[in-house]
Amino acid sequence: MAPRCWRWWHWSTWRRTRPPLPGSTPTSGGSDEVRDPANAKVLRKKRRRGQLGVKLGKLHLLALLLEQPPQICVVGSGPAGFYTAQHLLKHHPQAHVDIYEKQLVPFGLVRFGVAPDHPEVKNVINTFTQTARSARCAFRGNVVVGRDVAVPELRAAYHAVVLSYGAEDHRALEIPGEELPGVFSARAFVGWYNGLPENRELAPDLSCDTAVILGQGNVALDVARILLTPPEHLEKTDITEAALGVLRQSRVKTVWIVGRRGPLQVAFTIKELREMIQLPGTRPILDPADFLGLQDRIKDVPRPRKRLTELLLRTATEKPGTEDAARQAPASRAWGLRFFRSPQQVLPSPDGRRAAGIRLAVTRLEGVGEAARAVPTGDTEDLPCGLVLSSVGYKSRPIDPSVPFDPKLGVIPNMEGRVVDVPGLYCSGWVKRGPTGVIATTMTDSFLTGQMLLQDLKAGLLPPGPRPGYAAIEALLSSRGVQPVSFSDWEKLDAEEVSRGKGAGKPREKLLDPQEMLGLLGR
Ligand SMILES: Cc1cc2nc3c(=O)[nH]c(=O)nc-3n(C[C@H](O)[C@H](O)[C@H](O)COP(=O)(O)OP(=O)(O)OC[C@H]3O[C@@H](n4cnc5c(N)ncnc54)[C@H](O)[C@@H]3O)c2cc1C
Ligand SMILES: NC(=O)c1ccc[n+]([C@@H]2O[C@H](COP(=O)([O-])OP(=O)(O)OC[C@H]3O[C@@H](n4cnc5c(N)ncnc54)[C@H](OP(=O)(O)O)[C@@H]3O)[C@@H](O)[C@H]2O)c1
Repeated sequence: MAPRCWRWWHWSTWRRTRPPLPGSTPTSGGSDEVRDPANAKVLRKKRRRGQLGVKLGKLHLLALLLEQPPQICVVGSGPAGFYTAQHLLKHHPQAHVDIYEKQLVPFGLVRFGVAPDHPEVKNVINTFTQTARSARCAFRGNVVVGRDVAVPELRAAYHAVVLSYGAEDHRALEIPGEELPGVFSARAFVGWYNGLPENRELAPDLSCDTAVILGQGNVALDVARILLTPPEHLEKTDITEAALGVLRQSRVKTVWIVGRRGPLQVAFTIKELREMIQLPGTRPILDPADFLGLQDRIKDVPRPRKRLTELLLRTATEKPGTEDAARQAPASRAWGLRFFRSPQQVLPSPDGRRAAGIRLAVTRLEGVGEAARAVPTGDTEDLPCGLVLSSVGYKSRPIDPSVPFDPKLGVIPNMEGRVVDVPGLYCSGWVKRGPTGVIATTMTDSFLTGQMLLQDLKAGLLPPGPRPGYAAIEALLSSRGVQPVSFSDWEKLDAEEVSRGKGAGKPREKLLDPQEMLGLLGR
C-alpha cells in the first residue's frame, strides 16, 4: 500500500510531466524551439519523457482509484482492542479499523474490572475515545463474534482480523462443594459491583461474619478492599447503587486472603498492599511465624519483590506507627493473609444448603523463589466462613472452531501476535499472552501485534485487492436480526449514566440492563 508521501510524489510528478490539456496555453515547447533550434533535441526528448510520464501517471491514477484502504477488524474493545486499533491508525494513514464488541458498551475490563475506587486508572478511556472518534475507526457494539458472526466471515470481509477478546471465564478450583451457594468467582463478584449486565442479579449474601478469598493476586486484594471499605467511602465512586446497598448491609468483619505458597510468592503488588494496610476501620492480621528467616532470603531477590516483602515483614513483625496504631485501635474489621494453604473442599452447612467453611490442605514449598511449588504435607485445616470467593485467575475461551486454541495455556497460539498457521489472523492482550499483566503491559503487547500486522501488509502477505469490510458484515448481521450499536450510541448512554450519577455526586450510575439501554437508543 502506497504511503501518503509516495502518492503525493507520483501525483506531483504526473502533474509536472503531463502534456498540456487541449485548448490550454503551452508553458514551454513550440516557441522556445523556434527561437533556439539548438534546444530542439533536448525539448523533443523532454516531450517524449513527458508522454511516458502521462502513461505512467494515468496508470498510477488508475491504481489510486482502484486502491482500497486496508480494512482491518478488531474483536474486543478492551485495552488490547483499542491499543491495537490506535497503533494501526497512527502508523497507516489509510487503514480503516472496525472494533467489534459483544457488550453494548466499550472498554472491557477498564469498565467492568478496574475497581471503582481507582478512578485514575480509568483515564485511559479518554485515549480510547479519541481513537473511536477517528473518521477511520468504527465501534460495532452488541455483536458477539463466534455467535452473531463467525471468524471466517470476518476474514472474508477484511484484509486482516485481530482477536483481542480477553479472558472472559474464571479458572475453576475443581474441588468438591465449589457449586454451593455462598461460593462465587471473584470475576462474577467484580462484575457485580462494576455493573456487568450478566452479573447484575448476583446479590451475594453478606450476612456472615467471615469471608475467605482464595488466591493472593491483585484481584483478591480488590475484592477484599471493596468488602471492607466503609461504604460511605465508595459513595462517590462509580460502583453500582445496588452493590452499594448490599455492602451497606454487610456484616462481614473478617476477610482471609489465602495463598497456597508463601510470602515470597504473593502475586499482588506493593501499591495495592499499602492500600490494604491503610484501609480505614480495618487492621491487618499477619502471623510473624510465616516470616521467620525471610529477612536474609530477600537480599538477592529483584527490587520490587524485595520492597513488597519488606513491607509485609514490617507489618507482620513491627508495632504499627502512631498514625497506623490510632487508625487500627478502634477498627471493627480485619483482613489477614494465610499462607501455605491450598483449597481442598468447600464445607457445606449442616443442612447442606450453603457454604459454611473451607478445608485447606497445608502445604510446603519445593524449590525456591518464584518457581517454588506448593506440595501438600498431608495435614488439613478447616476455616469456617459464610462466603468463599475464588480469585485464582481468569481464563480465555475458544471463540470459533476455525481459530486455533491452546486449552492448557488458555491462549491463541501465536508468534508475536501472528496466529500460528492462519495468515491474516492476529491476536493481542490477554487472549494472546494469558490473563496476567496490567493495562500498560497490554498496551505494549498490542502495539507489537499492530506492528507485525503492518509489516505483513507492507510485505504483501495480506490478501490483495479490495475487501468490503463492514458493508458485507452489516448485511449478514441484519439478516440475522442483530442490531449493532455505534460509538455515538455509546456516547448517548454515557451521557445518560453521567446524568443519573449527578444527583448522588457519583461520576456515573451505570446502566445495567441491555434492554433498557436499547430502549434509550430507540431500538
Ligand atoms: C478485576 C480486575 C481489575 C484490574 N485492575 C487493573 C488496574 O487497576 N490497573 C491495571 O493497569 N490493570 C488492571 N487490570 C488488568 C487489565 O484490566 C488487563 O490488563 C486488560 O484489561 C486486558 O485487556 P484485554 O483487552 O486483553 O481484555 P479485556 O479488557 O477483557 O477486553 C476484552 C473485550 O472483548 C470483549 N469480547 C469478549 N468476547 C467477545 C466476543 N466473542 N465478541 C466480541 N467481543 C468480545 C469483551 O466484552 C471485552 O470488552 C485488572 C484486571 C482485572 C480482572
Ligand atoms: N491494581 C491493579 O493494578 C490490578 C488490579 C487487579 C488485577 N490486576 C492485574 O490483573 C492480572 C490478573 O490478576 P489475578 O489476581 O486474577 O491473577 P494473578 O495475579 O495471576 O493471581 C492469581 C492468584 O491465584 C493463585 N492460584 C492460582 N491457581 C490456584 C489454585 N489452583 N489454587 C490456589 N491458588 C491458586 C495464584 O497463586 P500461585 O502464584 O501459587 O499460582 C495467585 O496467588 C494480574 O496481572 C494483576 O496484576 C491489576
